Amino acid sequence: MFKNLLIIKPVTAQPHVDAGEPVEGSLKGEANLKRVLGARHLLLLGVGAIIGAGIFVMTGQAAANHAGPAIMLSFVLAGLACAFAGLCYAEFAAMIPVSGSAYSYTYATLGEAIAWFVGWSLVLEYLFAASAVAVGWSAYTISLLENLAAMAGSGWKFPAWLASAPFTYTNGEVLMTGSLFNLPAVLIVGAVGVLCYVGMRQSAFANAIIVAIKVTVILALIGFGSQYVNPENWVPFIPENEGGDRFGWEGVLRGASIVFFAYIGFDAVSTAAQEAKNPQRDMPIGILGSLVVCTLLYIIVAAVLTGMVPYTELGTAKPVATALEPYADLAWLKLAVEIGAVAGLSSVILVMLMGQPRIFFAMSRDGLLPKFFGAAHPKFGTPHKATVVVALVAAALAAFFPLGVLGDLVSMGTLLAFATVCIGVLVLRKTRPDLPRAFRVPFAPVVCVLGALSCLALVFFMGWYNWALLGAWTLIGFTIYFGYGYRHSHLRRGA
Ligand code: ALA
Repeated sequence: MFKNLLIIKPVTAQPHVDAGEPVEGSLKGEANLKRVLGARHLLLLGVGAIIGAGIFVMTGQAAANHAGPAIMLSFVLAGLACAFAGLCYAEFAAMIPVSGSAYSYTYATLGEAIAWFVGWSLVLEYLFAASAVAVGWSAYTISLLENLAAMAGSGWKFPAWLASAPFTYTNGEVLMTGSLFNLPAVLIVGAVGVLCYVGMRQSAFANAIIVAIKVTVILALIGFGSQYVNPENWVPFIPENEGGDRFGWEGVLRGASIVFFAYIGFDAVSTAAQEAKNPQRDMPIGILGSLVVCTLLYIIVAAVLTGMVPYTELGTAKPVATALEPYADLAWLKLAVEIGAVAGLSSVILVMLMGQPRIFFAMSRDGLLPKFFGAAHPKFGTPHKATVVVALVAAALAAFFPLGVLGDLVSMGTLLAFATVCIGVLVLRKTRPDLPRAFRVPFAPVVCVLGALSCLALVFFMGWYNWALLGAWTLIGFTIYFGYGYRHSHLRRGA
């Protein structure tokens, strides 16, 4: 009944792209966005997307409930899986510098239906992550504003009826919060959406400032916090297993699957490939450079946090601030950390909201989504219509849903995309060995197989309910595909 579900989009060899020069994308029929980004922008985009809720929020829970001081090891393991995947992304992004990222790479290697599945999974990564992080941003911002008010001697509190989603979902129980909707989350998504609409260069500039703030705060935390480290807090390094995934090696692995969230974002650099001046050289720098910088920072921050206070105390919504609590002379740093977290979370929202429309843009140009999503703004050169839709949906999700539960779901969608990209590199090496590769994954068979396996292993350590949610999500995706994409695909219709 369904013919050619695995039809493959041909890749054409592409000449070297020179700075500023508009060229055809390397996948047949790709259109151009403006090429304005250099290596530095791409590196900063990566760091902007990576450092966020993962380190500022999730590390504490993962250490307190699963890994103990060995959360450092969890970061190493998750970082390793990302390093394998990052190498594979770098090979693809330099070779096929288009905006569709894993979706486009899969279309060129494993065929249309799997490409659709990956593109659909990436919605979990980008759109849902933007909403989830916006909810985290809202909590940090409200706390920061109230702290500042208190410092000024005022008892001002943010109106509770506008501070969160109308309900929460904890331990299988739905509770009403008394709030109407999450106003700060809507405002930040709206503001970031406007930036993304106006232009890549402006967004990249805003991102660079934000990254400077959050990296400075993290370096200050490392510099000052490390002076208060008590090595006794690191013993026992891997606390004894208490059953299930509470501590022991099981806990370290579960911790890795949680803190994987902290690494998500380096792949977002690849969605800007079509706007890079010199993607062949700069994509690998952006993807791998940001990954290396963040991995090092994460492992050191994890060491400092678990060294400053016993890991059992870190299971709060603001673990970094919690670790500074006992040290009165670091009160200024606590305030700086809150400011850094607010800044850090904003740039994650920015890069995620930038990535999603670009993937829809690519899917629309292939006929798998309506033409509307493939429009580029005549002046700003951005996928403006897709940006508006994505920002509206992300704002609605952030307004009405408590997205804590979705952290794992975001990670699952991302891990599946990563695993597919790793396999795709091997497939394209076989099917198109002739294509010029500006960057090659070293020891490709070993690295690609380890990459796919390690990503799938991390998926394995997600809770069963995430599998159920992912199943439902995939079902919705394939309903849309067979209802629209399958019938309108340019490739199948020979357009
Ligand atoms: N890596 C991003 C974060 O930690 C998604 O917020």
